[in-house]
Amino acid sequence: RDDPHIEELIKKMTIEEKAGQLTILADTIRPSNPDINPEVNVRQADEMVEQIRKSRVGSLFNGVGVKEGREAQRIAVEETRLGIPLIFGSDVIHGMWTIFPIPLGEAASWDVDLAFKTARATALEATASGIHWTFAPMVDVARDQRWGRVAEGSGEDVCLGKALGVARVKGFQGSDLQAADCLLATPKHFAAYGGVSGGMDYNFVEVSEATLRDVHLPAFKACLDAGALTLMSAFNDIAGVPASGNRWLQTELLRGEWGFKGFVVSDYTADEELIEHGFAADGRDAARLAFNAGVDMSMQSGLYVQHLPDLVAKGDVSMEDVDEGVRRILRIKKAIGLFKNPYKCLDFEVEKTLDKLKAAHKDLAREAARKSIVLLKNEGNVLPLKKTQKIALIGPFSSDSDLEGCWTVYGDKKLSVPVDAGLRAAGASNLCVVKGCEVEAPLAGGIEEAVKAAESAEVVLLCVGEASDFSGESQSRTQIVVPKAQLELAEAVMATKKPVVVLLRTGRALALGKLQEASGMLVTWFLGTQTGPAVADVVFGDYNPSGKLPVSFPSDSGQQPLFYNTPRTGRPQRDMPRTFKASWREVHPRALYPFGFGLSYTSFAFARPQLSTAALGWDEALEVTVEVTNTGQRAGEEVAQLYINDCVASRVRPVQELKGFEKVCLKPGEAKKVSFKLRREDLSFHGADGKLIAEPGDFKLWVSNSSASGEEVTFRLLASGKRAGA
Ligand code: IFM
Repeated sequence: RDDPHIEELIKKMTIEEKAGQLTILADTIRPSNPDINPEVNVRQADEMVEQIRKSRVGSLFNGVGVKEGREAQRIAVEETRLGIPLIFGSDVIHGMWTIFPIPLGEAASWDVDLAFKTARATALEATASGIHWTFAPMVDVARDQRWGRVAEGSGEDVCLGKALGVARVKGFQGSDLQAADCLLATPKHFAAYGGVSGGMDYNFVEVSEATLRDVHLPAFKACLDAGALTLMSAFNDIAGVPASGNRWLQTELLRGEWGFKGFVVSDYTADEELIEHGFAADGRDAARLAFNAGVDMSMQSGLYVQHLPDLVAKGDVSMEDVDEGVRRILRIKKAIGLFKNPYKCLDFEVEKTLDKLKAAHKDLAREAARKSIVLLKNEGNVLPLKKTQKIALIGPFSSDSDLEGCWTVYGDKKLSVPVDAGLRAAGASNLCVVKGCEVEAPLAGGIEEAVKAAESAEVVLLCVGEASDFSGESQSRTQIVVPKAQLELAEAVMATKKPVVVLLRTGRALALGKLQEASGMLVTWFLGTQTGPAVADVVFGDYNPSGKLPVSFPSDSGQQPLFYNTPRTGRPQRDMPRTFKASWREVHPRALYPFGFGLSYTSFAFARPQLSTAALGWDEALEVTVEVTNTGQRAGEEVAQLYINDCVASRVRPVQELKGFEKVCLKPGEAKKVSFKLRREDLSFHGADGKLIAEPGDFKLWVSNSSASGEEVTFRLLASGKRAGA
């Protein structure tokens, strides 16, 4: 309440105007092209202008362009009673016009500087296009690969997800909220959306408070600590209480315990969906529950505008709370400078620089794409290829332009370079391209043509996997496999006995089936605008692959949910026989390719970790040092990953937990020491009562280049009765 201008405005506002400030609607004045909400977006541009004029809306989303944006803003500041500027939000997830790899792909780079840089570049392009605020990063921890939104986040791990989430928030926002290129960040979806049961989008989430706090909340907290000022509430329920109607989550924890001063925006109609959850009786009840829970801004349902006046009149919502919601939103509009300059991010001159920006971001897009590629298999060093080799490029993703992946609302297709064009531009002089089949259907004569091409080639690059609409929102799958038509193509091509390298396009971890028999395998995710050049860089060895899996690749779909940091079972399957062990009849419970795994064209050795002490005092730090050596013939990057296991604890702990990582670049024969610091806080967890606790006792520790390897050392946390947070 320390801003007299904001207090003055709040005093003057009617309840209808306040409800308008608490409302965000899809931008029908300057809809994205193509309009991503064509069916529900019924309000036409002139109707929207009327809503703005009457102050029935304070924010618009998923619109683009300076000209119409300025006009909408002009109406808000010149033709409304109080002249409060609009704030324009949008889903700018992994790039605006220049598209970077899907966040899951970028997570495979394990490169926080890169995540910062791509978010910064995204902010430059988005703010030049009339957008103040992005609904990103998605920091939901995703441990079930059937869930389509795995693609939008950083994978299954808490530590990696936190680091990348923070880097993205900082990248989007930059260092000055008032700067013209600050794009407000929105960590989403608060909370536990990644825990949807069975991996089915929008499904229920059954999770204990301790797991919620250990797994699903830390990335949100880290992003808020890094300066994020808005959060998006999730669609799902948490143990029976919908997140968007959950007062404990949105108010007691978020504002009470964490002291969050920003605002919460609902996901798209998530307030209204409280009715379908059976949690609210009708629209009025849904508005009451969502608002009283702490959801400040209602997205798209219009429920706050419809019902807040009556809810306040009847005493079901307090005017004080409404004022506080409005205050939070106005404070942020002010913080980013909209009261001083309502035309911020709506500058024709800056918009004219977009072509220059796109050109300037080309190299970064290529760097991000190649750093995201993960080499899973390289039998007989089939890779890298020579540019003069006779190559058959086979598969439905050989020359297509479906490169961007999910949630690219804008994305300049003209910038996209497909795989074949990338290989040719890199100098592939003997390339034969055959589609072979459609993504999900055979192609007449396709297999025959592909086999012929394979037979007359020295090596096959097989571009198979998922189309972009296999992942993303509402794209859950029961079988996380490459479609049958493509597997049939692959089998026929592999039967030629020519070396086959799979280029796997995917938005999630997949069960590889027969593809696993190929000589080589590169996970190429959705790499964005610079797909072709990046793939060529890796295939021809102009870039030495350094990606590491941010999700475990299973042997079989039925293993889901599968994640490396699974809680310890009383009957682990360590060896055979498997009966009466935690096992599957068909496959070993372990991942086929574990979290953190990824090969290089060189090799690395990790020395035994050295500890500064084997007995860590309660308030001391343990320094862990490990020497990493490039033992091969090429320069390369390696990711040193530090894992721990708490040997005995009052709550079952994960078999392993990542606690730190560092990427190093080493010349052939070069060695570097990598150091990590571990403190009591890093060893703490939430007890069954939901309270943070650190327990004295023994810990195991590994530093390696995957979650499934490394020499084990042990240390002890010395005794003290204090809680970790105390
Ligand atoms: O930001 C998204 C969210 O992730 C899913 N539902 C729609 C929102 C706004 O477009």
